[in-house]
Amino acid sequence: MSIILDKVNYIYSEGTAYESHALRNINLRIEDGEFIGIIGHTGSGKSTLIQHLNGLMQATSGGIYYNGRDIYEEDYNKKELRSKVGLVFQYPEHQLFESTIFEDVCFGPKNLGLSKKEVELRAFSALRSIGLPVEYWYQSPFELSGGQKRRVAIAGVLAMKPEVLILDEPTAGLDPKGRDEILAQVAAMHQELNMTILLVSHSMEDVANYVGRIIVMNQGSVMMDGTPREVFGRYQELEAVGLAAPQVTYLIHELKKNGIPIEAEVTTLEEAKASILQVFEGRGKNQKQGTKQEML
Ligand SMILES: Nc1ncnc2c1ncn2[C@@H]1O[C@H](COP(=O)(O)OP(=O)(O)OP(=O)(O)O)[C@@H](O)[C@H]1O
Ligand SMILES: [Mg+2]
Repeated sequence: MSIILDKVNYIYSEGTAYESHALRNINLRIEDGEFIGIIGHTGSGKSTLIQHLNGLMQATSGGIYYNGRDIYEEDYNKKELRSKVGLVFQYPEHQLFESTIFEDVCFGPKNLGLSKKEVELRAFSALRSIGLPVEYWYQSPFELSGGQKRRVAIAGVLAMKPEVLILDEPTAGLDPKGRDEILAQVAAMHQELNMTILLVSHSMEDVANYVGRIIVMNQGSVMMDGTPREVFGRYQELEAVGLAAPQVTYLIHELKKNGIPIEAEVTTLEEAKASILQVFEGRGKNQKQGTKQEML
């Protein structure tokens, strides 16, 4: 099934001096099992956009359809939508409020009306999957580091067993190890549970390494929507709006500019490695052919 956004607009504080047109005519279709990166400079509308997908914010105009049903219909079950489309906020403090980490993770499933046993089993499993050591579980979430808070916030959403997981800047402020761990866990959930994942990120490397599709937001509109290769191939347009392609894309383009016959459509280190090795292999072959010809 899918999530469809049809001409969605959102205006903050409409009719006041603080009016801000944060989403402009957004048309999108998100299919089951996709892993999508959402990029865009600060204030481009990323957080506003994703908060529409679980019904937390209501569009000023336009429609949103989850698995074929209009979420703005009066009898649509918004609570169920919020359990199916799990959102991890940009600032984890916004979603941690219970006195212990364990209770915090139980909050979502408890709200779904599940039995105490099921709630606790889900909380254990979610906490294990985000890799927070058990000695922390009964402490206050407010004493944790930024990265740990983020993990707990992710566990709280996972415990609801969502079909769609939306993460708003989950790696901001983390060290490289913490960043890799969180992203690897998210990628594993995508593969093992076939969860649809939307990842808002400022890191082009993170996005290029994990996602199959990138949506670029600019001033409230969708500016690009395509595979990492398609989007990062247009790096000059990205630069014009204050974004960039992954570092490795620039490196390979520089090599090409300098006359190296290299496949330049590269967005990840792995692809760059393959591209560079191909050049060497090509050279090796040519040299071998050369010697053969000389012999003839
Ligand atoms: N509560 C609010 N009231 C008024 N305007 C807001 C509010 N929240 C966001 N905006 C405005 O809406 C626009 C989009 O903001 P949004 O937070 O969605 O951007 P973003 O892409 O998530 O930015 P960032 O990368 O900084 O998180 C911005 O112009 C912002 O100033
Ligand atoms: Mg944001």
